[in-house]
Amino acid sequence: MTVRWPFAFSAMQPFRVVRAQGAYLYTGDGREILDAAGGAIAVNIGHGRAAVADAMRDAAMSTSYVVPPWLTPARERLLERLVRDWLPPGLTRLHLTCSGAEGVETAMKIAIQYHAARGKPAKTAIIGRTPSYHGTTLATTAVGGHEARKHGLAHALPSYMRVPAPYPLRCAAEDVTASCLSALEEAIETAGADNVAAFLAEPIVGASGGAIVPPDDYWPGVKSLCERYDILLLADEVMTGFGRTGAKFALGECTDAHWPVAPDVVVAGKGLAGGYAPITGVFATERVGAAIEAAGMNVMFHTFAAHPAACAAADKVLQILTEEELVARAAKAGADLKARLQETFAQHPRVAQVRGKGLLLALEVVADRADLGRFPAAAQITSRIAAEALQRGVAFYPGGTGVVRDVVVIGPPFTIGDTELTRIVETLAVAIDAATSEA
Ligand SMILES: Cc1ncc(COP(=O)(O)O)c(C=O)c1O
Repeated sequence: MTVRWPFAFSAMQPFRVVRAQGAYLYTGDGREILDAAGGAIAVNIGHGRAAVADAMRDAAMSTSYVVPPWLTPARERLLERLVRDWLPPGLTRLHLTCSGAEGVETAMKIAIQYHAARGKPAKTAIIGRTPSYHGTTLATTAVGGHEARKHGLAHALPSYMRVPAPYPLRCAAEDVTASCLSALEEAIETAGADNVAAFLAEPIVGASGGAIVPPDDYWPGVKSLCERYDILLLADEVMTGFGRTGAKFALGECTDAHWPVAPDVVVAGKGLAGGYAPITGVFATERVGAAIEAAGMNVMFHTFAAHPAACAAADKVLQILTEEELVARAAKAGADLKARLQETFAQHPRVAQVRGKGLLLALEVVADRADLGRFPAAAQITSRIAAEALQRGVAFYPGGTGVVRDVVVIGPPFTIGDTELTRIVETLAVAIDAATSEA
């Protein structure tokens, strides 16, 4: 029998990985690969931590499964730790899903239910951004601004309004924030504020744009528009959450966020269990949760949501992040890595920008640095850079949306050492030259 995996051939070559330890993957044919992308930007405490495996085993032995609304020791420990040590203030209503897409879709449903519960059932529209990525379900694919992932689906997707995400490198307007906020306000007014439930966005655009950081006045501006028009702010921190960008969360009314702005709902997955288990959190304010509850509505669970073994993994990963002060380390290692990349590529004719925060970084590669002209899509530069790097033993994450392209995303474990940082920079330089020299 021929086994076909993955389902359909993609640009990313499947590797047979038989072991992983720290920041390294080991293949069946004896190769060692530096995991500079933490898989899909998920691995934060490094691979092969026995303490996490032990916690998962203990949870499975103690209470292998009970329905998500009930409590188990592992579930209870995680919920307490989240509120005590991790979540921005005010997020008291917690829901857990298996994937980021389910989490984002739940947040969209919560926004619709919230308004319906307050007697505003017409407020159903969710405004998204371009570029963005929110997951693979029909609704998250539809609301997202990721053209390549709509291939073969676009004609059947429900329609959502989208506004530009701030993209300082390529924004024609002098004031990036003003232009993005006026696009958002225009979208709200076109739809009619009475019809808009929420604005959904990643605080720092993840892989779809390649770690695009907005100007500092963007998020406060978004928040005030949301308040003015009675629209919920849904922060997709699936990639940025739990320390990836060198802060616990990118948004939050607290000192350890990048922007002091309080979302109404935060979705965060990936790093929550550091790649050891599938788990994502949907965290909402008391105001939102209480309105839904008072109207007798509920937020339905997935059968395997908040799985005890996944909760145990997340609880242990969060404990390790705190005990080893790894969020601060992500900030410091990220700043070091960014500085080295900026120095190395300062004059490089093919690198338009090195950007990002903490250990969510990216490079945008162009055909011509002077006019930011892109390589044609058919040249598949991102895949070629990733392949060249992989041949040299380093795994990067190919980002972009098809429209935005040739962004190479870097998101290693927070435990990454100095030698590995040097290897990331050196390998990337060689891989970019090799991939672009004949294009
Ligand atoms: C910002 C963002 N949101 C949502 C998702 C979807 O998460 P998942 O793949 O776990 O469904 C991703 C995945 O890459 C993401 O980066």
